[in-house]
Amino acid sequence: MKDQAIAFITEAAHRLYDPAIRKLDIDTKEDADDLVTENDFAVQRMLTKKIKETYPTHFVVGEEGRHDKSTPENVVTWYIDPIDGTTNYVHQYMNFAISIGIHYEGEGKVGVIYDLIADELFSAVQGEGAYLNGKKLHPRRPVDLSRAIIGFNARWLVGRADATTKEVFANIVRDVRATRSYGAASLELAYIAAGRLDAYINMRLSPWDYAGAMVLLSETDAGCAPLFDHDTLFKDSCSMLAGEKNVFEDIYQRCNADQ
Ligand code: IPD
Ligand code: CA
Ligand code: CA
Ligand code: CA
Repeated sequence: MKDQAIAFITEAAHRLYDPAIRKLDIDTKEDADDLVTENDFAVQRMLTKKIKETYPTHFVVGEEGRHDKSTPENVVTWYIDPIDGTTNYVHQYMNFAISIGIHYEGEGKVGVIYDLIADELFSAVQGEGAYLNGKKLHPRRPVDLSRAIIGFNARWLVGRADATTKEVFANIVRDVRATRSYGAASLELAYIAAGRLDAYINMRLSPWDYAGAMVLLSETDAGCAPLFDHDTLFKDSCSMLAGEKNVFEDIYQRCNADQ
């Protein structure tokens, strides 16, 4: 299925190459900054059609219109994000990706994430390792928080989080070597597998944002879980912490210490 997922993604990517069509039909969803384009829908439709034609019994769950509502564990489910990083797609035409995660019986089996502008294809199969453009990614070695580069969006310091959490975040930002924010969760998670980031924090992600990257993370021995112990993965919206295990543990303890 990995090769099929790569073939589907590569074909769908052609739809996104033409800069002339990328700015057409920009719409908003929850608020004025939550962008969606006709190409988000087009890629979702293309991927869903291909998956359903090739694997009629498989389920498809994607951001732009969920084909299948429920996701029973004993059915192979494809989680697709047709464009992860739509804001970047519209404004910058870089740092966006198409992401696919194939899960079965509660486990991530295949993950494929394609950054078409950088021409970087991240892929992983459970038990067979993770790869970037065919080159194997090695398990992460321990990193101390003081030397860590973490993916962190400054907006978490002003919105959504409560005062205590904001203070914990501020201390983490102070204690790490540097923060980065690329604006595409699937890529930021894949960058942990590739050793470019040591951790990534997000207060609100959906399954299609991380279902593919999760396979890369587990194949490189990195941690991936809800940031707060009261959250559950694969709910509609969930906090997320991923990272090299040492950094992961340090951040997790800080965020879940009795407050
Ligand atoms: C978003 C991006 C963004 C993250 C948001 C996601 P979208 O996905 O990954 O970096 O902070 O939480 O929803 O909407 O561009 O597919
Ligand atoms: Ca979106
Ligand atoms: Ca997304
Ligand atoms: Ca998206």
